[in-house]
Formats: sequence, structure tokens, C-alpha cells
Amino acid sequence: MSALAAPHKAQRAPADRVAIRAATPADAPTLEAIEAASFTYDRLSPRALARNLRSPTADVFAATIGDVLAGYAMVFFRRGSTLARLYSIASVPNARGRGIGRRLMDACERAAMKRGCDRLRLEVREKNRPAIALYETLGYQRIGRYENYYQDGASALRFEKQLASP
Ligand SMILES: CC(C)(COP(=O)(O)OP(=O)(O)OC[C@H]1O[C@@H](n2cnc3c(N)ncnc32)[C@H](O)[C@@H]1OP(=O)(O)O)[C@@H](O)C(=O)NCCC(=O)NCCS
Repeated sequence: MSALAAPHKAQRAPADRVAIRAATPADAPTLEAIEAASFTYDRLSPRALARNLRSPTADVFAATIGDVLAGYAMVFFRRGSTLARLYSIASVPNARGRGIGRRLMDACERAAMKRGCDRLRLEVREKNRPAIALYETLGYQRIGRYENYYQDGASALRFEKQLASP
């Protein structure tokens, strides 16, 4: 399965064919390709990615359109904590705007609730408008701003959502 083999726009499957499943270690090369296509800084190393795919305190979800792995999201948990943390989310550039981000966020929220968490928190670059729009659309509230948060000195905004009771 290849992230870069997404169908040409004119041949795309409808958005309702986006499916979500748990990612597996076999997805690692494709997730690395999505990561490389989506982030210039603060990329997850292949080693960290492999570790997270096997971690009992992380859930990694893959979004597929037909045969194509078109996005992923990673959410972290801490034992004894009801706060879950969205660590990363990305959809492949030529499949954006088709509901993948929304479906992945829904999977992360459900996973958090299943683990007894009542809040999902995340940080996002202050200038990342598509991601901020996604989070705000889904009801995330801005709760903080941190200067010099990323490798390149960019500022972060912190968002949090109160999840419904499981
Ligand atoms: C952020 C990201 C994951 C969104 O994924 P996506 O698959 O395009 O998101 P969706 O199609 O599900 O969009 C859901 C909603 O988000 C908002 N949104 C997404 N992209 C947007 C854009 N470019 N401009 C404005 N709003 C946008 C809209 O409200 C949209 O709902 P709508 O389609 O009903 O208007 C994607 O842009 C991405 O991978 N970016 C690069 C990686 C990244 O920055 N990740 C976030 C790190 S914090």
C-alpha cells in the first residue's frame, strides 16, 4: 500500500469511502511517507513511529480510501490520567478536504473515551490554519499559547475538548 499512489483527483472515490482502522507495524513505511509529505519540522523518527505502533499507551489509526492509506492519527494516553493527547494527524496532500481529518479525529476521541479519558488535548502551530479550522470545527477550545515551542522557534496553540461520557 502506498500513500503516494492516491488516485488522480478525477478518479477519486467518494468521501464516504474513507475507512478507519488500527494501524499496524506493516504500515510504518507508508506512515513515514505521509509524515515526510506533511511536516517540514518535528517529524516523528522511524524509530519513534515503530515504537508507538507497538505501544500499549498509544493508539494509531489509519485512514484508507480503497487500497490507499491516505492519512493517520496518533493519540497518547498516560496510566492514571483522564487526559488524552493527540500527538499527530495528517492526511496525504492530494486527499485533503475530503473528510479524512474529521474521521481520524472522531476515531481518536472514541478511543480516548473507551480508555476512560474525558479530555483530548493537542498543540498546533499558530500559523497552521487548516488544522486549527479542523479542531475548531470539532469543538476544541483554545486554552494556551506557547512561544518558541517547535524546533524552528514557531509558537504553538494548545486546544482541548471535553469529551462526552463513555
Ligand atoms: C489538518 C489536516 C489533517 C486536515 O485533514 P483533512 O483530511 O483535509 O480534513 P477534513 O477534510 O476532514 O476537514 C475537516 C474540516 O476541517 C476544516 N479544514 C480542513 N482543511 C481546511 C482548510 N484548508 N481551510 C479551512 N478549513 C479547513 C474544515 O472545517 C473541514 O470541514 P468542511 O470540509 O466540512 O469544511 C490536513 O490539512 C493535514 O494533513 N495537514 C498537514 C499536517 C498537519 O498540519 N497536521 C496537524 C498537525 S497539528
